[in-house]
Amino acid sequence: MKPVTVSSLREMKRRGEKIACLTAYDYSFASLLDRAGVDLVMVGDSLGMVVQGHDTTLPVSVAEMAYHSRCVARGVQRALIVTDLPFMSYQQSPQHAFASAGRLLQKGGAQVVKLEGGEPMVATVRFLVERGIPVCAHLGLTPQSVHQLGGYRVQGREATAAERIHRDAKMLQDAGASLLVLEAVPSELAQAITQDLEIPTIGIGAGPHCDGQVLVLHDMLGIYPRPSPKFSKNFMHGATGIEEAVKAYVAAVKSGAFPGAEHSFHAS
Ligand code: KIV
Repeated sequence: MKPVTVSSLREMKRRGEKIACLTAYDYSFASLLDRAGVDLVMVGDSLGMVVQGHDTTLPVSVAEMAYHSRCVARGVQRALIVTDLPFMSYQQSPQHAFASAGRLLQKGGAQVVKLEGGEPMVATVRFLVERGIPVCAHLGLTPQSVHQLGGYRVQGREATAAERIHRDAKMLQDAGASLLVLEAVPSELAQAITQDLEIPTIGIGAGPHCDGQVLVLHDMLGIYPRPSPKFSKNFMHGATGIEEAVKAYVAAVKSGAFPGAEHSFHAS
């Protein structure tokens, strides 16, 4: 069983093979996802909400991310592990980001680190990549900026905002990012960015045209006690167990059946 790497994900994009991703925060779920054929396991700072019960992702620390990432890494043999740099661990300077990212690689078994933001993060992405740390960028709805965005809202519906996101995506690729998460953006925008970039795009609420899809595990299993976003889908409906639900998700992503029109947004 060959492990998934950033290069093999690029190959998948070239072949037109969809990339199936899910979040995980512990050993048992990570191991189940890996067995079920998930290509990329994200240790998201969404753990602040779905595991710790906070209202936002903001309280999560690097030590907590490293702890959960380490648990996940013990369960994964094939999938690529992408771990979030939490709020306050990378925005201050590229050097600060390097120290935090290094901790996630050294102590958390992360293989790629993910950070949120566009143009202001370009220098940081370049700094990390030049020092051997692969980066996944994250544009659109960036949950660490929830207070600035005024809530968990779709981004890039207006032409100028869409152009900014598109331009940021290219700048992040040019700075060396290996992957790009697009969250809660119109399908048309995600499609244009996906066609324009050589690196794979991973959508969450970004329509069917991205190179891959990700969902928060607790949303797709229907176990988060608060309302899930419109772009999510409960794969436990019709499944006899968790492994079957995860396999159904992987199959739906690979075949293009998920996301459907009801999970997507459109430009104004
Ligand atoms: O925090 C998270 O889980 C994420 C992914 C869902 C993209 O950022």
